[in-house]
Amino acid sequence: MALSDVRGNPVSTDEQGSLDAYERAQTLFHGYYGDPLGIIDGALADDPVFVMGHVLRAGMLITASDKCVEPMLRESVEAAEGLYDIANERERRHIAAAHAWLHGEFSVALRRYADILIDYPHDTLALQVGHIGDFLLGRSTMLRDRVAGVLPAWNSQMPHFGYVLGMHAFGLEETNLYAQAEAQGRRALELNPRDPWAVHAVAHVLEMQGRVEEGIAWLDGRRGDWSTDNMLSIHNWWHLALFHLDRDEIAKVLALYDDRLRETSTGQVLDLIDASAMLWRLLLRGVDVGARWRQLADVWRERGGKGYYAFNDVHALMAYLGAGDDAAAQQLIDDMENAAQEGGTNAMMTRDVGLPVARALVAFAREDYALAVSLLRDVRLIAHRFGGSHAQRDVLALTLVEAALRDGARALAKVLTAERMVLKPTSEGNRQLASRAAAL
Ligand SMILES: [Fe+2]
Repeated sequence: MALSDVRGNPVSTDEQGSLDAYERAQTLFHGYYGDPLGIIDGALADDPVFVMGHVLRAGMLITASDKCVEPMLRESVEAAEGLYDIANERERRHIAAAHAWLHGEFSVALRRYADILIDYPHDTLALQVGHIGDFLLGRSTMLRDRVAGVLPAWNSQMPHFGYVLGMHAFGLEETNLYAQAEAQGRRALELNPRDPWAVHAVAHVLEMQGRVEEGIAWLDGRRGDWSTDNMLSIHNWWHLALFHLDRDEIAKVLALYDDRLRETSTGQVLDLIDASAMLWRLLLRGVDVGARWRQLADVWRERGGKGYYAFNDVHALMAYLGAGDDAAAQQLIDDMENAAQEGGTNAMMTRDVGLPVARALVAFAREDYALAVSLLRDVRLIAHRFGGSHAQRDVLALTLVEAALRDGARALAKVLTAERMVLKPTSEGNRQLASRAAAL
């Protein structure tokens, strides 16, 4: 007899052991903890016809947003497709969603995960993969509303409700509803303090509101809940470094970079993005980071996988430019130009955002600040289309301001810094930029 998972979603298996492993893996995945892939691989080794195991594996691999895991994703999708006849209706829809992602149709995949939730609002796998997909595609309103749409079907007694609230908190934050986001994030953490995504959502609120002291205290105070054996830990260390950067505590930022950000820099692409983004912010401040650029550029170059996701590519480019590796930078831009000609969602992201940003970064590195300004002023208006958070994409606005300052464009620099001061008047970094603009 077919079973149901702990949230009541039907599964086609009648093997309780497989389902138990699935629950363990999915719970870890919801909190980005441990090795859920290892657990599900173990279950699939014992029970290769466990459809939901392949489906979970595919979903987890999608959220990696990395060309390097594509062979594994293909393996899962093809294995699940081979079991189509025994899969139930919900599982077939998961297979179709993962299939679309595998074939580069990221938007189609996200629509299919959303469709699953209409009929199965307790399907937290569809919710989480869709949520991370919304993040990767820069769909801020869906980051909020994909979760909001299922909330009426939930209550605080149901397993994993805290994770649902944590996702909602991040969506609220990315739609600038900061008070609601903070309240929802704190509520999520009352239910489950070990939810690094909810910790991260509140950290974003504190970042966007320029609450630097609180941000440092928030992350430092909860370190035990997010920093060990967690996929998001480097990203949360990055947020902590961002708070210190705003206070111009460069030695502290470099120490965090050396001890935390590059700790596992051969691992996930998300970690490399954070490393590039932090070094680029230091470059904008005129900090000499020594051999760090070269080391980071080497890691990016060795891992390959370019032309898969424009947001990754732009961060790889930062490392090449920082290291002065013109050949790698040119090769990457060639790869991006090819990707822009291909089908799929990333072609749009690369064409509309990735390439204009890449050309702006190259112009900045060549000290052609007027060109960097011109390119960034246009692309920043649609930069959300290539994904990431407001805090991550702020690196583009910071590059624009710095280019305007270095170009001596006093009137423009005053306007750009005024924009920033209105949004975040307590930011020491913003105050420094504004006084430089005034002094031009
Ligand atoms: Fe973040």
